[in-house]
Amino acid sequence: MIERLSELAAAALGDLDAARTEKDVEDARVRYLGRKSEIATISKGLGALSDDERKALGKALNEFKATVTARLDEARTRVLAGAASASVGPDLTLPGRAPWVGRKHPITRTLDRLEEILLGLGFEVAVGPEVEDEFHNFEALNIPPDHPARDMWDTFYVDGGSLLRTHTSPVQIRVMQSTKPPVRIIAPGRVYRNENPDASHGSEFYQLEGLYVDRDVRLAELRGVLTRFLKELLGDDVGIRFRPGFFPFTEPSIEVDVRCSICGGSGCSVCKGTGWVELVGAGMVDPRVFRAVGYDPDAVSGYAFGLGVDRVCMMLTGTDDIRLFLENDLRFLRGV
Ligand code: FA5
Repeated sequence: MIERLSELAAAALGDLDAARTEKDVEDARVRYLGRKSEIATISKGLGALSDDERKALGKALNEFKATVTARLDEARTRVLAGAASASVGPDLTLPGRAPWVGRKHPITRTLDRLEEILLGLGFEVAVGPEVEDEFHNFEALNIPPDHPARDMWDTFYVDGGSLLRTHTSPVQIRVMQSTKPPVRIIAPGRVYRNENPDASHGSEFYQLEGLYVDRDVRLAELRGVLTRFLKELLGDDVGIRFRPGFFPFTEPSIEVDVRCSICGGSGCSVCKGTGWVELVGAGMVDPRVFRAVGYDPDAVSGYAFGLGVDRVCMMLTGTDDIRLFLENDLRFLRGV
């Protein structure tokens, strides 16, 4: 009988070590320690044995129960803790994981769309450096040294007197310096400003510059091009508002707002409760800018504009915070 107990103990420990689920453990408990188990039957027969035999078998039974119960507890803890662990093996019932498919960043998609429309209107793409000098970013654009825009608080200066361009307008200067009129370019690119970010202001964002210089270019043409362009971009029924503005490098200067598509015009954190979002600064190129690049202001005239690309992207994608574009949060990027 004691031999039989050893066999049962070996079988019980083997089954418990092999148990993978709570049910396996429970089945083993019922099989080896349950009321209908072989052990229960053996225990019931104790009374018919002699004193010595009963003592020896009772001791062996107690040892059996203690060993199997301890291993049972271990097995239960292991399967509970390791339900998801490798020892449990892969769960073949889980749905498969779809492969991640990359896509263009929403800002890149917006830049593509802007270029598509403006190339269709006859503009060519020009590029310029992001690390600029004071001449191209300020001086040639008629921004004098004491102008507040040159303040350390607005501009990131780089060692050696260079700076991170604060707008794409220096590309106008570079193009005019190297090209004879007529000129009709757009210059998309990243710009930097040392300012406190909020829902509609980044310290690193994209602009798209436009410049058209020829004989007899007029403000009405600028207005017409911007209207046509914004309608093609945001839809025929977009609300557009032209306001007088000021830039040292254009005269007259205008600013262009569109109806805030985030709140539909009722007021939100993006439009600061006004219902309008400022998208474009523009105007007729100032004669002093033409002189700085060697153009004759009596022979040519032109218009220029600078568009906030991130804000366009917000309107197109319904994004209510500009900072989301730079945070690289895949949960956001996959949804826009
Ligand atoms: C300029 O940067 C001028 N260079 C634009 C210009 C070009 C005027 C040519 C005349 C002729 P402004 O600072 O207003 O202007 O910026 C132009 C546009 O960039 C704004 O209308 C807005 O859409 C966007 N913008 C400006 N600051 C930020 C910012 N911090 N974050 C995101 N977008 C901005």
